[in-house]
Amino acid sequence: MKNVKIAVVMGDGAAPEMMRLALNVAYEAAKLDEISLNYVSTPMGWNSYEDSGDTLPKESLEKATEIGILFFGGVGDPIYDRELGKKRPEMMPEARCLLTIRSKWGLLINCRPFIYYKQLSHLAKVKGEYIPEEGIRQIFMRFLLEDSYFGNKDLTQLVNSREGQAFGIKNDKKEVAGDEDIVTDLAYYKRETLEKYFRYIFQYAKAVNLPVISVDKANVIPRYVFWRKICQEIHQKYFPEVKLQNLYVDAVNALLFTPAKLNAVIACGNEHGDILSDGAAEAYGSLGLMHSSAINPDNSMAMFESGAGTAPTLAGRNIANPLGRILTGAMMLEHIGAKNGATMIKKIVDEILIEGYRTLDIFHEIIDDKKLLVGTDKMGELVLGRIPMGL
Ligand code: IPM
Ligand code: MN
Repeated sequence: MKNVKIAVVMGDGAAPEMMRLALNVAYEAAKLDEISLNYVSTPMGWNSYEDSGDTLPKESLEKATEIGILFFGGVGDPIYDRELGKKRPEMMPEARCLLTIRSKWGLLINCRPFIYYKQLSHLAKVKGEYIPEEGIRQIFMRFLLEDSYFGNKDLTQLVNSREGQAFGIKNDKKEVAGDEDIVTDLAYYKRETLEKYFRYIFQYAKAVNLPVISVDKANVIPRYVFWRKICQEIHQKYFPEVKLQNLYVDAVNALLFTPAKLNAVIACGNEHGDILSDGAAEAYGSLGLMHSSAINPDNSMAMFESGAGTAPTLAGRNIANPLGRILTGAMMLEHIGAKNGATMIKKIVDEILIEGYRTLDIFHEIIDDKKLLVGTDKMGELVLGRIPMGL
């Protein structure tokens, strides 16, 4: 057996209930590839604040960085956000943990796949007749750095360096207090990062044999004119055989309801990808099924986080859907080379859904069988129980 270390954040809200199951499932499934997962706890979020006074304790960040693979339950809880976040806005865990790790680790590629066979089309909120015969195969590949998420911080650093002077950039860094008359955000894309990103996208699309749809707002926003130009440059130069369509973000948003036109690898900016992927998750299933990976394509550092939040209103009630976290675990196994385990988890989840098992978020009063409505634990145990054991 090969040992692989994984840093783990159980997270806030209902995340720990779901993570416990996802950790067990990944652990058992990895054995199919002769891999023994060694989980190392690296607490982050409000739950770590009480002990350490920090939502991103230095020790946890250092330990996770040393390991380089992080299974992240999700952080944030509106009750704490309101109380503690007001006193210490810099501790708000979503921005503090996620954005710091994404930027420090260079996690450029955020993959959020929405793959449903025709047999699973009744999970979709989109009308059945609009679901194509081949099912739904939308692989969102969100550009996870730069843009408006990191503009202010990155460009301030650039201004303070000689490079910034060369570009003539000026920026005052200010915290928003709420009494300003005007607030502006900076957003940017860098040629170097865009080139790296699009090379990855086209390479990936070629491997999975799907066309690329690149999302932008090149009719009005300059950084998206740049985005489109570089996309087309890389396409023509290195991957002319891959089918490419450049579409505006508003059009892509509308196309979520006629999904046949979106069966593709969908390349989108940081902010566009955030919005579109939640829409796709709900259109074809539920946020509870969303799974997601964030990878540095140069050194393989990676974070696995469902992208669906912490469902704080569901905490402690045994009703949250653990399948998003479980499928995120499968993405993690794929990343560390545990292909059999990853395939097994995906197969089992499909089977369970086809058989009609439902958590509350995907349960439909008329279509679904009430006897197959299950809680968080039961759903996780159903998956776990079907993994072949005895290795
Ligand atoms: C996501 C989340 C994050 C984002 C938040 C929590 C910072 O919504 O992963 O989609 O906006 O990227
Ligand atoms: Mn989001």
